[in-house]
Amino acid sequence: MIDLKVNGTVHKVDAAPDTPLLWVLRDNLGLTGTKYGCGIAQCGACTVHIDGTPTRSCSVPVSAVGAGTIVTIEGLSPDKSHAVQKAWIAEQVPQCGFCQSGQIMAAVALLEKTPKPTDADIDAAMTNICRCGTYQRIRVAIHRAAGTKA
Ligand code: FES
Ligand code: FES
Repeated sequence: MIDLKVNGTVHKVDAAPDTPLLWVLRDNLGLTGTKYGCGIAQCGACTVHIDGTPTRSCSVPVSAVGAGTIVTIEGLSPDKSHAVQKAWIAEQVPQCGFCQSGQIMAAVALLEKTPKPTDADIDAAMTNICRCGTYQRIRVAIHRAAGTKA
């Protein structure tokens, strides 16, 4: 059994040590807001925070998390009231939506580190792929959440 601290609760998880964290979140804990895209740390659909760092959970063995604190999209707020969630809704960012949990988690991590990001900061931090091409609206929504929307 592995102890895993997710969204403020410690879970006892029955999983092989090399199981990707993403599988444990989705299949063992039922936290299906975090998505599987590529499985090779390229697309960012599986982004969660580990100790505040945006992390591609498809490529992290669950045993590597240790005492780290994990936050998933479900842990951002109980009612979609996080500033980034509100900005995403206001700017109607998602198209198909598949990449958006990961995009939001990447944006939250950016804003925690850089509360007033420039366009260049956003471009450097937001490396998640969106096949629907919502990049422009993601940028506007991040500025809205930061209070720097033009
Ligand atoms: S599914 Fe993890 S980066 Fe694509
Ligand atoms: S909204 Fe469809 S992949 Fe990003």
